[in-house]
Amino acid sequence: MKKILVTGGAGFIGSHLVPHLLEKDYNVTVLDNLSNGKKENIPAAADFAAMDICSEDVGKLMQDKKFDAVIHLAGQTAVSTSVKDPAMDEQLNIGGIINILNNACHTGVKRIIFSSTAASYGDNPHLPLQEKEPVMPLSFYGLSKVTAEKYIKLFHSYYDLDYVIFRFANVYGERQGDGGEGGVISIFAKQIAQDEKITVFGDGKQTRDFVYAGDIAAGLVRALETNNVNNTYNLSTCTQTSLSELITLFSNIAHKKIATEYTKERSGDIYHSMLDNSKAIKNLAWHPHTSLELGLARTFNYFKNKA
Ligand SMILES: NC(=O)c1ccc[n+]([C@@H]2O[C@H](COP(=O)([O-])OP(=O)(O)OC[C@H]3O[C@@H](n4cnc5c(N)ncnc54)[C@H](O)[C@@H]3O)[C@@H](O)[C@H]2O)c1
Repeated sequence: MKKILVTGGAGFIGSHLVPHLLEKDYNVTVLDNLSNGKKENIPAAADFAAMDICSEDVGKLMQDKKFDAVIHLAGQTAVSTSVKDPAMDEQLNIGGIINILNNACHTGVKRIIFSSTAASYGDNPHLPLQEKEPVMPLSFYGLSKVTAEKYIKLFHSYYDLDYVIFRFANVYGERQGDGGEGGVISIFAKQIAQDEKITVFGDGKQTRDFVYAGDIAAGLVRALETNNVNNTYNLSTCTQTSLSELITLFSNIAHKKIATEYTKERSGDIYHSMLDNSKAIKNLAWHPHTSLELGLARTFNYFKNKA
């Protein structure tokens, strides 16, 4: 496994993954249309193919380069956008993966690694959620990811193409949201760095399972190296942190009291979320090493330096 195509490699998670792959001596090509990513996120040592995942050019690139594996990060990534424009979400997240899979099967790719989401599970109270829990997405984004997972498994049954599917919890870290909508941590970090008031939807007691992007990158690399393929893994910390706890941690990191406004909760938001990560720990020898304190400090300092 040497030549790797990273779709969406100019985005947030890609910006943590691609340098990690290069450090490990992989030959990396980033495919990205820069709709939400940034060229400056792509290290000079990686090749860059500026194209859309749905275009015919993808076939030419894959035929030409004969990749060993594809890490598929590109796509429509916002729940809210999927609800406003389900057709666009479907085109990018389902049409995109089919184009990649089709070309992978005909150009000798041996493995596809896919970035699915905790949103696949919907609102299920059996926390921490194991991979065997039913998928019941509440958004078109979740639905398109679940559908993509099913396409991957069916392609595997027809062709000699192994897969590793990851369901990421709430990923955070430097560069999140630089090209558009970020997660709650990057939104708070940016606002606190700019001395703005932050807004909490609801009572602040809702919890999320926050996992640092550098740890996600390490998990994606493990997926290239493991023999435990044709499996689905949660990547998470298996811990719950409330938004109020986040604000306290940020207050310690920024050494100031944080002005907070509480407003009505948003419809469709899940109250508690936590993914079991024991399967990834056991089968992939992966571990979320970065503490929330350290990850938050890195994220805050990133936005502070940009402010
Ligand atoms: N960030 C999270 O918390 C999280 C959680 C679960 C799953 N994921 C998934 O992980 C993947 C990466 O997420 P991210 O947070 O880095 O998002 P991101 O938006 O920062 O990165 C996605 C990249 O894909 C590119 N892209 C979008 N549409 C494209 C197209 N049609 N053709 C080519 N490139 C295109 C964008 O320019 C961007 O660089 C996504 O598939 C996302 O759904 C992310």
